[in-house]
Amino acid sequence: MTWRLRIGGLVLLSGWILVSASAPALAADAQAGRTKAMQCQTCHGLDGKSKLPEAPNLAGQVEQYLVKALKDYRTGARKDEMMTMMAKPLSDADIANLAAFYSSLKP
Ligand code: HEC
Repeated sequence: MTWRLRIGGLVLLSGWILVSASAPALAADAQAGRTKAMQCQTCHGLDGKSKLPEAPNLAGQVEQYLVKALKDYRTGARKDEMMTMMAKPLSDADIANLAAFYSSLKP
């Protein structure tokens, strides 16, 4: 019985190592997001505070929401003349980084 528990523990441990080892590769980079956000600042501001009456504030917005919004613009699930055009060329990494950047700002 005890050896079975030990093996179970080993399997769990190796699973955990695999997950934690792959996490840094997926981790969003807010600094890279800030660089990418140069092309968003005319409308959303580099501080995430809107510069246009039609553009929403992004500072402090929930990260997952930003990711979803950008992916929806990219696929066309959500449409906006300006944002559809802006989101088209973004990669998944760009979107993750941009979301990390804007969500890290003070609202
Ligand atoms: C030309 C102006 C303009 C630029 C440049 C622009 N946006 Fe937007 N953005 C808008 C407008 C206008 C909306 C509101 C659209 C709508 O009602 O769906 C919006 C909406 C958004 C939303 C959804 C917010 C919410 O609360 O639902 C996100 C996220 C976003 N923009 C991110 C970005 C990012 C990231 C960039 C740069 C890659 C960018 N935008 C560049 C004008 C712009």
